[in-house]
Amino acid sequence: MKTVAVVGTQWGDEGKGKIVDLLAADADVIVRFQGGNNAAHTLVVDGEKFILRLVPAGALYSNKTCVIGNGTVVDPLALLSEIDDLKKRRGLADDFLKLSYEAHIVFPYHRAIDQAREARAGKRAIGTTGFGIGPAYEDKMSRAGLRFDDLANFQSFTEKLRRNVADKNAYLKAVLKGKPLSGADMLEAMRRARRRLMPYLCDTGEYLAQAIAAGKRVLFEGAHGTMLDIDHGTYPFVTSSNCIASAAFAGTGMGPGQLDAVLGISKAYTTRVGAGPFPTEIKGWLADSLREEGVEFGSATGRPRRIGWFDAVLARLAARVNGMWALALTKLDVLTGIDPIKLCVGYQYKGNRYETMPPGRHSMDTAKPIFEEMRGWKERIGDARSLEELPANARRYIERIGELAGVSIAIVSVGPDRAATIVLKNPFA
Ligand code: IMP
Repeated sequence: MKTVAVVGTQWGDEGKGKIVDLLAADADVIVRFQGGNNAAHTLVVDGEKFILRLVPAGALYSNKTCVIGNGTVVDPLALLSEIDDLKKRRGLADDFLKLSYEAHIVFPYHRAIDQAREARAGKRAIGTTGFGIGPAYEDKMSRAGLRFDDLANFQSFTEKLRRNVADKNAYLKAVLKGKPLSGADMLEAMRRARRRLMPYLCDTGEYLAQAIAAGKRVLFEGAHGTMLDIDHGTYPFVTSSNCIASAAFAGTGMGPGQLDAVLGISKAYTTRVGAGPFPTEIKGWLADSLREEGVEFGSATGRPRRIGWFDAVLARLAARVNGMWALALTKLDVLTGIDPIKLCVGYQYKGNRYETMPPGRHSMDTAKPIFEEMRGWKERIGDARSLEELPANARRYIERIGELAGVSIAIVSVGPDRAATIVLKNPFA
């Protein structure tokens, strides 16, 4: 297969970064298609840790092209600091990255509005990253947004930005009781950033069409996860973009017929950051110990992640909405020593049993998980490179997840390092 999308099947943080990095070895082009720097992919290469927020994971190889597609929202200063860090640590060439003219710019007023709204919401807060992602997508949809395209004519960019700053300041002051921001500072920062950003700008839709026509292998890197999708997730406790595989089309300009396969990524258990329903959530010492063992603290914000058992209802939903070819299971090693291990096989809701999501996402507020228990294992599994090297109970657990989700397992990750992986089938093979 030549074109593959990787998407999260839970509430983000499934370990997509590691899997994308692994598959990127066989890809020519790696593409982000939605979200912004609210995403954070943690990767460990040769023991060195990298956190990528906007730049696709292919940046950790020296000979790949990374594309940031039109469906993303990009904080230019965050992007430039990520580029500088990668160039310094990985010695990347200047042309390693292509940024869509049509991607939207995230400005300081987006962050200020995001943070002020969350503060005002108090207990009703969504628990956003506070990076301005929702307000930036709002502007995109209301057609008040500024795109990188607008940088070409700095005079009209200046006029539009001034108009927006005036509007946003009025809203910040009157409604959110926040402090107004300086439009002059924003303009000056953009003037300086512009010179550095222009060389990366590209008609990425056309670039990708040509790459696909030339038979190049293209990897589409989803951010967040299916349950954070604006339509299919746990609305309103979601992010402000579509994060499912079909977003790769609108978010890059590739046609639906051109995607060969979708690989879903799932942790061997479940986590979420931010508020919202979480039927299989675990509280107390077991959650604390899994959080410590799995280093479950948000890469973008450092917040402790909530912890839960694997949920097959979510997996089935993700398999359906993403048209999943197979699943990659990550962080299996974190479950070592847990016995028994619980798996949610369905929900009990209003007296009925559901194998798939009960009608209406609010059902998740009160649905009770139906658990099945499996025996755990005690052996360290970080060095396993084939299923045969895993304890029998770990193998049974993987098989059961495949059965419950209704898709085959393509990859099992047994540690943070690139090498700590069992590859059963590689979509690019
Ligand atoms: P926003 O995307 O910053 O607006 O945050 C909305 C919700 O999505 C919050 O619950 C965030 O914690 C969550 N979120 C956004 N991006 C990620 C991610 O990459 N991983 C996990 N949660 C995320």
